[in-house]
Amino acid sequence: MSWTTICSVEALRPESGVCALVDGVQVAVFMTYDGELHALSNFDPYSEAYVLSRGIVGTRKGEPTVASPLHKQVYSLVSGRCLDDETLSVPVYGVRVGNGGLVEVSLEQRVEVGV
Ligand code: FES
Repeated sequence: MSWTTICSVEALRPESGVCALVDGVQVAVFMTYDGELHALSNFDPYSEAYVLSRGIVGTRKGEPTVASPLHKQVYSLVSGRCLDDETLSVPVYGVRVGNGGLVEVSLEQRVEVGV
């Protein structure tokens, strides 16, 4: 398992995301209101644009979500499923706070969602 350091946890703001390049993959890292971290692909498959890190963090039925800033499709931060269009999903990656309060992402801990 390999982890890539992204930034310090203090650099993240609750309810917002940052984009990081991990081994050539654009990853959107989010902190929710309660301080939980989530990492998804930055690619919005609906708009076909790398924009999810700029999305609006929220919840739907208690599930943390991000809404694409372009066409507002809502994706689960937990499963990567699009909650507005069941044919769409985005990869979910491993994210943790490692030594020294640094946020780390692992592409290997990727969750594949069946659609
Ligand atoms: S996030 Fe790039 S256009 Fe809105």
